[in-house]
Amino acid sequence: MSDPQIITVPGAVDLHVHLREPSTNKAETISSGTKAALLGGFVAICDMPNNPGSPTWTLDRLQAKQKIIEEKAYIPVATYAGSQPESDNIDELEKMAVSAIGLKLYGGTTTGNDKDYSPADFLTILKKWKQVAPNKPIMLHSGKDNLEEFIKLIVANSGQRLHVCHVNSPDDVHIISKYKKHSLPITCGVCPHHLFMASHDVKSRGWFARMKPPLISQDKAEELLEMLASGQIDIVETDHAPHSIESKMATGEENPEGIDNPSHKTCYGVPGLEFALPLLFYQMRQGRLTLERIIDATSTKPAKIIGLKISGRTKVTWQLKDYRINNEKTQTLSGSGWTPYLGMLASGKVKEVTIGGKTLVRGGKITSKYPKVINAGDEI
Ligand code: DOR
Ligand code: ZN
Repeated sequence: MSDPQIITVPGAVDLHVHLREPSTNKAETISSGTKAALLGGFVAICDMPNNPGSPTWTLDRLQAKQKIIEEKAYIPVATYAGSQPESDNIDELEKMAVSAIGLKLYGGTTTGNDKDYSPADFLTILKKWKQVAPNKPIMLHSGKDNLEEFIKLIVANSGQRLHVCHVNSPDDVHIISKYKKHSLPITCGVCPHHLFMASHDVKSRGWFARMKPPLISQDKAEELLEMLASGQIDIVETDHAPHSIESKMATGEENPEGIDNPSHKTCYGVPGLEFALPLLFYQMRQGRLTLERIIDATSTKPAKIIGLKISGRTKVTWQLKDYRINNEKTQTLSGSGWTPYLGMLASGKVKEVTIGGKTLVRGGKITSKYPKVINAGDEI
């Protein structure tokens, strides 16, 4: 075991989590998910709108979620509005734009969306969002082979800020880089599972290794890590998407081959908040990422994308020491009770967390909460 090393960093911001409340998916709550985030070194997270059974497509639903955040969250949370070609909520977009941090669009199939759309299907939604929230980003889950078309429609033609979620292909990163060269407001993020797992994992882990977009070959995963290290990939986002062990098992029984089709049961997504930073720190200690790049990719840039300011009064102190993720019962913090990273090496335990001058973790133990809905322009 290596010697412990203490570092203090500004605190991470995750632009991509699914806290699942309120919804029919009981694998996570705003309380359990934000607790995992706090002890995972995050000081703010942004919640996606695809709540199963209750997508955040109306102001009422957005406010219901925000009310729970104000009561139960351990750390500040921002919330996205959602809109799909069939959600028929154009009039709600204007109302939601004020307190939502951005707009999430699902161009391809995943939890809560069983269709592949073409970018033009979102035209009315895009026009409206540009009108009501010109400075708030579109967070895109792109569909099959249509990323460039989406980029042309959203950024190149209308100048709206676009964040391409969870890139899983070096080719997609090259496409995004091409548009960045024209100084267009476009960024992209990568998830820990696309860096540290690979498509062969599906053979041994079945649905516990299935998510959207799917895992890629080991070679491509290595390439993505290099692209993160060089800054070609802007940020790390967890896409923390908990499903219960029972749901994953039941999906394996019904659809062992993983057929992606509305007539088959599917269950895409993995939890990740508690291990994202330790997995990155382990790579740092292997010399594959610098601390500066980790801070940039997990704090500075994500905060900038959503217009959040992180003050000098917000900090996380880590004790870096390598360990093996070997006990789901004691080491996982997500309400789902499992992790796709079992057996992997990680580094770092959160020792102290201060948000906006308020101490939330001392000596590795939670001492207080900071339940607050945050919005663009806020400072923590
Ligand atoms: O794997 C995924 N799971 N990808 C997504 O885009 C959504 C997520 C979920 O909500 O379960
Ligand atoms: Zn997601």
